[in-house]
Amino acid sequence: MDKLVVRGGNPLVGTVRVSGAKNAALPAMAAALLSEETVILENIPQVRDIVTERNLLTAMGAEVELGYGRAHHRTTISCRNLVNAEASYDLVKTMRASTLVLGPLVARMGHARVSLPGGCAIGARPIDLHLKGLEALGARITQEHGYIEARAERLKGAHVVFEKITVTGTEDLLMAATLAEGESVLENCACEPEVVDLAALLTKMGAQIEDAGTRSIRVRGVEKLGGARHRIIPDRIEAGTFIVAAALTGGDLAIANCDPRHVGALLSKLEECGVKVAIGEDSVRIASSGPLKSADIVTEEYPGFPTDMQAQYMALATQAEGMSAITENIFENRFMHALELVRMGANIKIDGHRAVVRGKTPLSGAAVLASDLRASASLVVAALVAEGETIIDRVYHIDRGYERIEEKLRSVGAQIRRIGRLIPERAPAAVAAE
Ligand code: EPZ
Repeated sequence: MDKLVVRGGNPLVGTVRVSGAKNAALPAMAAALLSEETVILENIPQVRDIVTERNLLTAMGAEVELGYGRAHHRTTISCRNLVNAEASYDLVKTMRASTLVLGPLVARMGHARVSLPGGCAIGARPIDLHLKGLEALGARITQEHGYIEARAERLKGAHVVFEKITVTGTEDLLMAATLAEGESVLENCACEPEVVDLAALLTKMGAQIEDAGTRSIRVRGVEKLGGARHRIIPDRIEAGTFIVAAALTGGDLAIANCDPRHVGALLSKLEECGVKVAIGEDSVRIASSGPLKSADIVTEEYPGFPTDMQAQYMALATQAEGMSAITENIFENRFMHALELVRMGANIKIDGHRAVVRGKTPLSGAAVLASDLRASASLVVAALVAEGETIIDRVYHIDRGYERIEEKLRSVGAQIRRIGRLIPERAPAAVAAE
């Protein structure tokens, strides 16, 4: 198992470039299932979940070429000759977002067989709202042997109101509605930038969508969708992780190739903590600005404070003067990282979905365990300010959603290395293309 070894103490100085967004790339790749024509996606991040998505699509008969090392990480997907419409348990259990193929498959093929994802480290995460939405569009849904079977000659437009705001639920129904007969109105939708980016791709493929990015989206179904070329948005959570790392370590870091609008809630919170933030067109600069002040956060749907930044923010709060209350409203079990931070010397008390962090407490290097993707990111940023060496185990979690994080951090002064080797060496062409 790979581990990351981090020696804390170095301020981050220089420029780090953000990769494409994992959570925009996954639905975009699933959207290719809606068409017989080729979809070309650029800025696809080189992370493990993309490889899983590739395997998911090729298992159905799609031709997928991950263009790592090519300019813009260009990826081409052709779903002209799909041979089956199944997402197997072996793949879904490694990546819940695999369920995003459900809507596109039943819309295009008239049926889909998708494994139920099962439990997750951060919460139960059911997909009942996806299923209720597809049933409203006329799909017949059955469940057996751990699989969902969805069938429909042709989906029919309908009025769908999500009981709860769900990002992939919105994306799944948005994709399904593009090929439904008639008009659909989706209410109480997620407004995340990844939803807007998916709607932009679908529109390029010929879909008729209005008001993506608002709580109410209107979709007029079409007979067929075509191919398209689309550049995936930058990863706002990767950008946010580097922004927090810079604020924690001091130094002077520019986070380039990101969209500052997408990290608005985080930036205004960091300004409240006393962090100096300079915003450029596609970059954010974080310069050292003395002691951090404590500030409370409550995680919310976009544009509120993102739950995917809660763990990294908790690491920062351990170094802020005073008490920070952190309320996690999206997932019921997303404090696994807190006990690992306590092992490093943090003072954190958990009471249900609220954690109270008292700072500033010096952190010392320790052996810690990553439990999920963002928890592992929080341990990395904490280790950057810990005295001595921290060894982070199970970093396969971080490889799911961060492209070459240790190389990027090392390039701006961090002392971080990987021991053990899970990810194959990058093709010389990839290095040359940079
Ligand atoms: C997306 O997950 C992201 N994943 C998550 O990022 C992110 O944490 C989450 O949105 C919230 O922002 C991808 O985009 C691939 P939800 P998703 O459906 O869509 C409940 C990361 O670190 N719910 O918006 O699965 C659910 O249990 C990952 O990159 C139902 O009850 O999240 C949760 O409490 C982690 N029934 C809430 O809604 C449903 O059918 C929001 O979940 C669907 C969701």
